[in-house]
Amino acid sequence: MWTNLRPTPEDRFTFGLWTVGWQARDPFGDATRAPLDPVESVHRLAELGAYGVTFHDDDLLAVEPDRERAIESFRKALAATGLKVPMATTNLFTHPVFKDGAFTSNDREVRRYALRKVMRNLDLAASLGATTYVCWGGREGSESDAAKDVRAALDRYKEALDLLCAYVVEQGYEMRFALEPKPNEPRGDILLPTIGHALAFIGGLERPEMVGLNPEVGHEQMAGLNFVHGIAQALWHGKLFHIDLNGQTGPRYDQDFIFGHGDLKSAFFLVDLLEHGGYTGPRHFDYKPTRTEDAQDVWDSAAANMRTYLILREKARAYRADPAVQEALRASRVDELAQPTLAPGESLADLAGDAFDLDAVAARGFHFTRLNQLALEHLLGVRG
Ligand code: GCO
Ligand code: MN
Ligand code: MN
Repeated sequence: MWTNLRPTPEDRFTFGLWTVGWQARDPFGDATRAPLDPVESVHRLAELGAYGVTFHDDDLLAVEPDRERAIESFRKALAATGLKVPMATTNLFTHPVFKDGAFTSNDREVRRYALRKVMRNLDLAASLGATTYVCWGGREGSESDAAKDVRAALDRYKEALDLLCAYVVEQGYEMRFALEPKPNEPRGDILLPTIGHALAFIGGLERPEMVGLNPEVGHEQMAGLNFVHGIAQALWHGKLFHIDLNGQTGPRYDQDFIFGHGDLKSAFFLVDLLEHGGYTGPRHFDYKPTRTEDAQDVWDSAAANMRTYLILREKARAYRADPAVQEALRASRVDELAQPTLAPGESLADLAGDAFDLDAVAARGFHFTRLNQLALEHLLGVRG
């Protein structure tokens, strides 16, 4: 069972350059690691078995301030390693100009600049073969309800996405946008705070088919929400365009831990859902190597994300294949939910004559405890 833990490009693991490249500057302390050359990241990630890398426009400039030269050496590294760039994104949050947001800043000059910045990186992303463009609106929000007309802000958010979709169509790029919800941090409150808010917003856009989601494990968990349920709903809407995998321990600051180093049981059910729920996109890690770690630990942590995913994938397969689990799933009538409530040709009127023993049905147990315990035992390694 455990022979299969060496990641390969077929596993479609991808990493943001900003993850391994994070210098570990936090609100209370300076960087604990030196800047990392994106070229080194590409080579190291390829050696570890990753499929691809993703980047913000500014990530490419970590050690080479000249944009053209930085792009050239990045392209060379990609060609040398075969690493792909399935997704790219824009940094619309670090520069002080974005302090009140980018697409939804009260300052119109800032909104115009943000659009230009995105368009420029969209051109680069398309030329590198990316097909997903993530929009994380980290600065789109406020610290006070007096400061932001949220309805006007949503009009401007829609305006920006409508314009960017039109641009992609005009240029003939094969690109879709993926919104990344987050409830707060760095703003007191961020717009489109959860998967549900973002899904509803997409319905109001000019080209809703071009916009989906890039949900992140920790972001939903920061809001106290069930990530597995959120992902299932995103899949149900056909909107899981991309995913940010990491770890979080409950509602607190955005921890961006290694995948599985937070709520492990949720990670198990997430992998089970991704593997059996029809998601075929990259398994993208958006984590931060903790501030205590040195330059070597960074690569150990990158490897740990993939290894944990692969372990959980094996666990999920073993769980599904276990005859005791299959029996317990039947006993809990999990599959019965797939059956429509009315039979073909039946109408609501037919229900009127439907007789059943109310007390007997009410008394029936669902045996979910047994099922849950079996999942735990698989996870703990005492079964399978
Ligand atoms: C966070 C966010 C960011 C975004 C990234 C892409 O940790 O708060 O997830 O990491 O994913 O900037 O735009
Ligand atoms: Mn995060
Ligand atoms: Mn993210």
